[in-house]
Amino acid sequence: MGLYHPVAIGSLTIPGNLFLAPVAGYFDRVFRSICIEQGADFTCTELVSSEALVRNPLYGALAHRASLEKNILSRGDNETRYAVQLFGSDPEVMYRATGLLAPYHPEAVDINCGCPVPKVTKTGAGSALMRNPVLLGRIVEAVVRGAEERLGGAPVTVKMRSGWDASSVNYRECARIAVEAGAALVSLHARTRSQGYAGTSDWSHIADLVSQVPVPVAGSGDLFSPEDAERMLRETGCAAVLFARGAMGNPCIFSAARSLLLTGSWELPTAEERLALGFRHLTHLATDIGEGSACREMRKQFCAYTKGLAGGAALRNRLVHAQTIGEYRDILSPLYRGSLSALFQEVGKN
Ligand SMILES: Cc1cc2nc3c(=O)[nH]c(=O)nc-3n(C[C@H](O)[C@H](O)[C@H](O)COP(=O)(O)O)c2cc1C
Repeated sequence: MGLYHPVAIGSLTIPGNLFLAPVAGYFDRVFRSICIEQGADFTCTELVSSEALVRNPLYGALAHRASLEKNILSRGDNETRYAVQLFGSDPEVMYRATGLLAPYHPEAVDINCGCPVPKVTKTGAGSALMRNPVLLGRIVEAVVRGAEERLGGAPVTVKMRSGWDASSVNYRECARIAVEAGAALVSLHARTRSQGYAGTSDWSHIADLVSQVPVPVAGSGDLFSPEDAERMLRETGCAAVLFARGAMGNPCIFSAARSLLLTGSWELPTAEERLALGFRHLTHLATDIGEGSACREMRKQFCAYTKGLAGGAALRNRLVHAQTIGEYRDILSPLYRGSLSALFQEVGKN
């Protein structure tokens, strides 16, 4: 079998093994859609609070609820297979939150056991679950039960880190307990919670986990190029790779990685292609959450879309002040021609 191949997650078969990682604040449903168009085989929402879903069906402020539903929980038009990621530390709440996902019909539910943010860990959720593997097992069981009752038996997956800190690397134990409790795939971000996103991830943990559990392992950590994905698949034997920061502002990484795995070579997208995708991200996001919010939201996203481009820094200095789609267009269109200009004309007509 070549390095690019289908992945069976319980009863669900994903046709390829290039996955989009959950990334809060960046990978909204518009971006997920663009990634699928560019070749991503499976996507996942960012982490969603089980407590907030269950405690208040209105999920805090109504405006936030609308944005959560439209922008994060709902699937994109071409998103035929996606997972919703939940976080929480109470099995009963996680069970009920899983049932509340029924209107979205996710193909899988992922449990967050890796988030290092104190707001999440101080409630015992995210990476703090790795300090309490018994509770982690009960949570997986609860979500599996919820998925069986309300989501047609959608498989449950778990995304974890290597451990809480260097002195407590326990991904083996946590993954074993999660699988015994019914997890059908384990994703491993091979950094500890105390590393945050710094330093390098230790891919030897991914290779080791592959040999320890009877379910597919998806590898995460430092995938910034198609070559990184190829090397992780080859060196660790993991079933799938999760692109995270490497896909920010760079959805073409999926087509490039697929091309590398299938043909041995790939081509860099042009600056115009990348910016045109960013501009489309902006205009579609405006449809979801309104022009003002989309323009604010896209400032950080455009920092990613312009990363590494000639003249990118100057462009970013101007884009961070853009408040309307028109202002984005005015800043971008004189700099690039071709596909971008065509796209701008199209948007201008609306
Ligand atoms: C800004 C940001 C937000 C993230 N949000 C989530 C999240 O919501 N759920 C999750 O499981 N992981 C989240 N992650 C972790 C990524 O999915 C991924 O595991 C991590 O970035 C390592 O991959 P990389 O080194 O290739 O970026 C986030 C990472 C970043 C940088």
